[in-house]
Amino acid sequence: MEQKLLLSHLATDTLKGLSSNPKYLLSKYFYDDEGSRIFQDIMNMPEYYLTDCEHEIFASQKEEITQAISTGNKLFNLVELGSGDGLKTKILLKYLVEKATNFQYTPVDISAKANLELVESLKKELPTLQVEAKTGDYFRKLKSLNGHASIQKTILFLGSNIGNFSDEETTEFLGQLAAYSNTGDKILIGFDLKKSPRVIMDAYNDPHGHTRRFNLNHLVRLNRELDADFDIQKFEQQTTYNPQSGEVKSFLISKTEQTVQIRTLEKSFHFEKWEAIFMERSRKYDFQTIERLASNHGFKVVQNFSDQRNYFVDSLWEKE
Ligand code: AVI
Repeated sequence: MEQKLLLSHLATDTLKGLSSNPKYLLSKYFYDDEGSRIFQDIMNMPEYYLTDCEHEIFASQKEEITQAISTGNKLFNLVELGSGDGLKTKILLKYLVEKATNFQYTPVDISAKANLELVESLKKELPTLQVEAKTGDYFRKLKSLNGHASIQKTILFLGSNIGNFSDEETTEFLGQLAAYSNTGDKILIGFDLKKSPRVIMDAYNDPHGHTRRFNLNHLVRLNRELDADFDIQKFEQQTTYNPQSGEVKSFLISKTEQTVQIRTLEKSFHFEKWEAIFMERSRKYDFQTIERLASNHGFKVVQNFSDQRNYFVDSLWEKE
């Protein structure tokens, strides 16, 4: 009992996922230092269109986005959830500063390192910008931000991060956002759209092997942090796309019957030959679903900003 109480989130979530039938692991644990580096490689590959599309949207429509989110002369708070290196946001920030917009920027990220680097680079690139970075869990931070109800908020949640949530997590996340928003507050959410399955599969089944490495690194993390003995040679990675649900799903599949020990959990886990671990979902959306998600949570869609190919949309919602 004592031992159990001391287990980390990673340990308890791993125990739950690998004890389930079918087995799963949570994709939020992809992002240790090495996983974050591999994700950079994914974003840099030409097949991973998501980053380019959102970059294009910010670069070509910064004026329209600024117009849609600004509040006249009144101060507003631009909050970014999962800011990371802030590369796309910097385009908007630069423009807002140039236009002498009255706003402050609050990047929120789980990684203290990412926050520190972002703040440092902003100090150099945009010295007049008011920044207050917050490290930690989105929701706890959102709660603290709501203290200033008089300051209007625009919350950014970019990169189609929402696509990695299950339906239940999406409902919980948008419910919490709605609870922490006041009437007139806005959110700009990045959604990857349904498109030719070939384009989608190329982005997630890449010939460079980055996606494979990204998934296997999760097991390497369990070896290191939970004293497990996964032999990564004994697993292969597979991606599927369901054009009806819009779900890309990634799996690690055991190539052989095997037993893996996880010493921190004092447990071993048996794998049948060809048994799969569900690793990640990356959902693709249509406009009807986006409208429904907004209205189910008390938001109205004010404007949709898409790239030229209509692959991706940053959808701006306002709290009613
Ligand atoms: C972070 N997230 C939006 C990425 C995605 O596209 O779902 C993670 C990713 N997984 C494999 N490739 C990229």
